[in-house]
Amino acid sequence: MTLADVTYLPETPAHDLEIDDINAEAFGPGRFARAAYKIREGGPHDRTLSFVAMNDGQVIASVRMTPIAAGEGRAQMLGPLAVRPDFKNLGIGRKLVAMALEAAAEAGEAAVVLVGDEPYYGPLGFARIPRGQVSMPRPVDLNRLLAHEIAPGAVAKLSGEVCHADLAKTQPQRETEPA
Ligand SMILES: CC(C)(COP(=O)(O)OP(=O)(O)OC[C@H]1O[C@@H](n2cnc3c(N)ncnc32)[C@H](O)[C@@H]1OP(=O)(O)O)[C@@H](O)C(=O)NCCC(=O)NCCS
Repeated sequence: MTLADVTYLPETPAHDLEIDDINAEAFGPGRFARAAYKIREGGPHDRTLSFVAMNDGQVIASVRMTPIAAGEGRAQMLGPLAVRPDFKNLGIGRKLVAMALEAAAEAGEAAVVLVGDEPYYGPLGFARIPRGQVSMPRPVDLNRLLAHEIAPGAVAKLSGEVCHADLAKTQPQRETEPA
C-alpha cells in the first residue's frame, strides 16, 4: 500500500455504515458521552464539507463537519476525525483536515472549531479559544477547545454555549420591548 492507493472523496450516505464502524473503533463506546457528540445530536452534519479516504473500495478514514452556533457566532465543528489503525501516520488525517478547511473556506464559512489535541491540530492551523469565551454542553478540557479562523474576527464572535446551528435557528426571536 502506498499513498497513491488512497483516494479522497466527498462523503455520501453510502459511506455511513463504514464511518460508524471507524468511529466506534477509534473512540469506543465513550464517544456517546463526549461534548462534541452531544452537539452533533442537535442536527445533521454537512456532507458537502465532510470527506472520506478510500483504499481498495473501503473507507479507511473520515472527517465530518457540523454547523454550530455560539451566541452571535457561527462556525463549523470538525470531527470526528478518525483513521483506521493500519493507515495511521501516513498523512491521511492531516490531508482530511486540510480538505475540510479548504472546503469550509470555499463555502464562505467563518471559522472551524474542534475539541482535540493541540499538538496535532496546532500545526494544521488551529489555536486555543480563549478560556471562558465559549462553553460546551458537557465538560471538556478547555485547553482542547481549538479554532481555525477564516473570516477575520469570526472566532471573537463565538460566545456562550456551543450548540448545533439548527437549534440556534429555532430559538424564539427576542421580542422588542414595548416603549
Ligand atoms: C489522530 C488521528 C486522526 C491522526 O491521523 P493520522 O492519519 O494517523 O495522522 P497523520 O499521518 O496526519 O499525522 C501523523 C503525525 O501526527 C502525530 N499525532 C497523531 N496523533 C496525535 C495526537 N493525538 N497528538 C499529537 N500528535 C499526534 C503522529 O505522531 C505523527 O507525527 P509525525 O508526523 O511527527 O510522525 C488518528 O491517529 C486517529 O484516528 N486516532 C484515533 C481517533 C482520534 O484520536 N481522533 C482525533 C480526535 S481529536
